[in-house]
Amino acid sequence: MSADVIDGKEFSLRVRNKVAEGVAKLKKDYGVKPGLAVVLVGEDPASQVYVRSKGKQTVEAGMNSYEHTLDATTSESDLLKLISKLNEDPDVHGILVQLPLPGHLNEDLVINSIAPQKDVDGFHISNVGMLGTGQKSMVPCTPLGCLMMLRDYHGSLSGLDAVVIGRSNIVGKPMAQLLLGDSCTVTIAHSRTKDLKDVVKRADIVVAAVGRAEMVPGDWIKEGATVIDVGINRIDKPEGGTRLVGDVDYDSCSAVAGAVTPVPGGVGPMTIACLLANTLTAACRANNVEEPVGLTA
Ligand code: GUN
Repeated sequence: MSADVIDGKEFSLRVRNKVAEGVAKLKKDYGVKPGLAVVLVGEDPASQVYVRSKGKQTVEAGMNSYEHTLDATTSESDLLKLISKLNEDPDVHGILVQLPLPGHLNEDLVINSIAPQKDVDGFHISNVGMLGTGQKSMVPCTPLGCLMMLRDYHGSLSGLDAVVIGRSNIVGKPMAQLLLGDSCTVTIAHSRTKDLKDVVKRADIVVAAVGRAEMVPGDWIKEGATVIDVGINRIDKPEGGTRLVGDVDYDSCSAVAGAVTPVPGGVGPMTIACLLANTLTAACRANNVEEPVGLTA
């Protein structure tokens, strides 16, 4: 058997088109143009690529993009002053501070200085708490993208056994909360989990988010399970050069699974699409306008 391929590139295009429609309607009916401010501190090349891509896709969706690039030596108080200004700016509906921050800056302090209703990453402690208690919140983009793909593929997730491998604040923990919200029976597995193979083997849904290249082999997967691969790892090719692989061994898993997301072209493109969705959601909420269906948890 060969698994269905869940095409994140195609799906993310659908999400971005839906966002663009929502943005156009918000502008036409209410005169509101959503705006996303992205703050980059320092010159990390990978972060620069992400930030450029976010800015480009924000504009393509019809929204305003405000980029703030700060020197790597920027003081915490200057960064907090900028965030405070963005919090007060009515044209800015979403604020994202690109992580990681240089070592002298306290990430928790910085993230928690963002107004929760503008926290399009969903990292603010108050959004984390609201997600955990089933209240309307801003939801982290990568797990939101995974949830959208799972809902699209399965319809209802109710009663399914889900295993999330990885317990990060950005993916693993919010992913588990979202799956629980959709009535899955959820296990969070991690580097200290005993008998990981047996734990994974029980799952109807496996979300791998550990950051270790191809660590989940096909013989860990239950026949017909859905495998969502969040990992993006660069490895050396035997013939020279490098290639991107996920946390899942794609070939052996797709021989047993019912559906898999590829790397690249699976979860990756969904993350920015969900960032745009969150910015539209934030702009709707700020103006007491009903938000489009299907773009939030
Ligand atoms: N760095 C890598 N991924 C992310 C993300 O989703 N949000 C932020 N703010 N920084 C990141």
